[in-house]
Amino acid sequence: MDLKNYISDVPDFPKEGIIFKDISPLLASPEATGHALELLSKGLHDIKATKVVGIESRGFLFGTLLAQQLGLGFVPVRKPGKLPGNVLRESYALEYGTDHIEIQADRIKQGELVIVHDDILATGGTASAACRLIERCGGKVVQCNFLMELGFLNGREKLKNYALHSLMHI
Ligand code: PRP
Ligand code: MG
Repeated sequence: MDLKNYISDVPDFPKEGIIFKDISPLLASPEATGHALELLSKGLHDIKATKVVGIESRGFLFGTLLAQQLGLGFVPVRKPGKLPGNVLRESYALEYGTDHIEIQADRIKQGELVIVHDDILATGGTASAACRLIERCGGKVVQCNFLMELGFLNGREKLKNYALHSLMHI
């Protein structure tokens, strides 16, 4: 099964010049979703991680499935102002300006091993900010895990200190 057949390219969305990678055909197929999950979790069964961190919003979809598949807890990293309690915040660069993401500080314990999941690795800004959040909590990132990597944006460079696994390469 070629998973790329379940990703549709949507030109000029959400703005002109951007080709949006739509994972909804993948999610609409239980067979393709199951296959993707199997490949995403490859090699992770023997890692002594205890949490999967998923990044809002599209990272929640496979992030929770992956956590369940591996028997691990799930922790959301969210856009600002969505999480209650003691929250840590990191900023990252956008094409124009900056954005922020947050985590609840108590969800990751000192020394915990953590897998980071998101749907797409583009410039790497979002995922590297998520890694910084986990490290500020005292956790250690054992793998950054993606459905798809847009190689031409070189997000890998920002994550060079981490093990990286992406299913599809564009
Ligand atoms: C997209 C994608 C990744 C991020 C990758 O999310 O789902 O999370 O961009 O970009 P980067 O590697 O350049 O940081 P987006 O912020 O569009 O939000 P969404 O997941 O809520 O749709
Ligand atoms: Mg996202």
